Amino acid sequence: MAFDSGLAAVDFSILRTPGKEGELHYLDNAAMALTPDCVINAMVEHDTLRRSNVKRGLHRLAEEATEAFEEARAAVAGYLGIKDPDEVVFTGGATAGINILAHSLGLMFERNDEVLISQLEHHSNIIPWQVIQQRQGIKVRYLPITSDGRINLECAEEMIRSRTKIVSVTHGSNVTGAITDTRNLSDLVHDKGAFLILDGAQTAPGGPMELNVLGADFYVFSGHKVYGPTGVGVLWGRKEILKNISPAIGGGEMIRDVGLEKSTFLDPPHRFEAGTPPVTQAIGLAAAVKWLAGKDLNGMHSHLRRLTLRIMEGLTELSGGIKILGPETGMERLPLVSFSVDGLHPHDICQVMNDRHGVALRGGFHCAQPLHDLLEVDGSTRASLAIYNNDKDVDAFLNGMEDCLKILG
Ligand SMILES: Cc1ncc(COP(=O)(O)O)c(C=O)c1O
Repeated sequence: MAFDSGLAAVDFSILRTPGKEGELHYLDNAAMALTPDCVINAMVEHDTLRRSNVKRGLHRLAEEATEAFEEARAAVAGYLGIKDPDEVVFTGGATAGINILAHSLGLMFERNDEVLISQLEHHSNIIPWQVIQQRQGIKVRYLPITSDGRINLECAEEMIRSRTKIVSVTHGSNVTGAITDTRNLSDLVHDKGAFLILDGAQTAPGGPMELNVLGADFYVFSGHKVYGPTGVGVLWGRKEILKNISPAIGGGEMIRDVGLEKSTFLDPPHRFEAGTPPVTQAIGLAAAVKWLAGKDLNGMHSHLRRLTLRIMEGLTELSGGIKILGPETGMERLPLVSFSVDGLHPHDICQVMNDRHGVALRGGFHCAQPLHDLLEVDGSTRASLAIYNNDKDVDAFLNGMEDCLKILG
């Protein structure tokens, strides 16, 4: 039976704003997915019945809040397909996760050590390493990309060398949509004794995973792209590595013993959760991943692949200097399409699409300016899909683009 996106859409009140039903074509999911009501309800219920700080309280509410928070950790571990919830660190988002890693792993770097990233990265996987580069004299190097917007993994063997301590790459590009094949990469990284970090901000929304199959040592993602709330994310790390790295961010809730000269830290994950963690948001995130796991995910993937192909084919048929930035096929590709249009600025396209067609898109560099520079385009426009999108959204997008080319071209 064909996948029915309408069955998912009913879970989202935001798609049924009275008087505006059917007017919104939300295609900005790679920036932030909408949130189903059950996620909002789980957070309201928590704050109504169990709100209290976690980990240190000795009263009933504090105990219940701590239990709910740790249950949320277990739910996320389940979603990632890992056995030990203590490998799950709650963060503020993917950016926070990579920064925690850069600063904590950076404590072990020696001058001239190397971090290898790629030209495909989001700023959140570039800037933290550049900060460490400036501070500690390490070198950040870049894996090149192929002409169709994938990381050129053929260069990995030559570029990963004994001084390489970290290889940190996107698992799925928020611009080209390319999904990174990590199987060989993981072997190459580990042969040199380095660690592999995957930025999963765009792949985590694909549904429950078996993280171990990816061969990474660390994986980060953000709650708000997985139908969860803002202000929460996850850093997953192998326990044996997490145990052996020092926290770079200190404060309450992460310590064992504090002295004026020296302090000792709790075991992971608490060691990396300094200060009050995003308790309510973690509970919302757990509700989101459980909700997603209950959907027909195979059906969802084929549905989104079909819609992605429709967008790509539709854009190709429109005349007017449209260039799709990314792999041509719908396989090993995220359900998003970024494109540039000769002579048109992405902001103008987004404005017309919003004002005249109710289509929500994103335009600009998508926090990947080096990539756009490399592709020699002054920004791009991106349509990104989620479980509730349907053919009507794609029709609105394609009709809108035709209109854009007429009135802006
Ligand atoms: C590939 C990728 N990495 C990292 C991030 C940063 O995520 P956040 O802003 O939630 O920290 C994003 C957000 O768009 C992204 O698409």
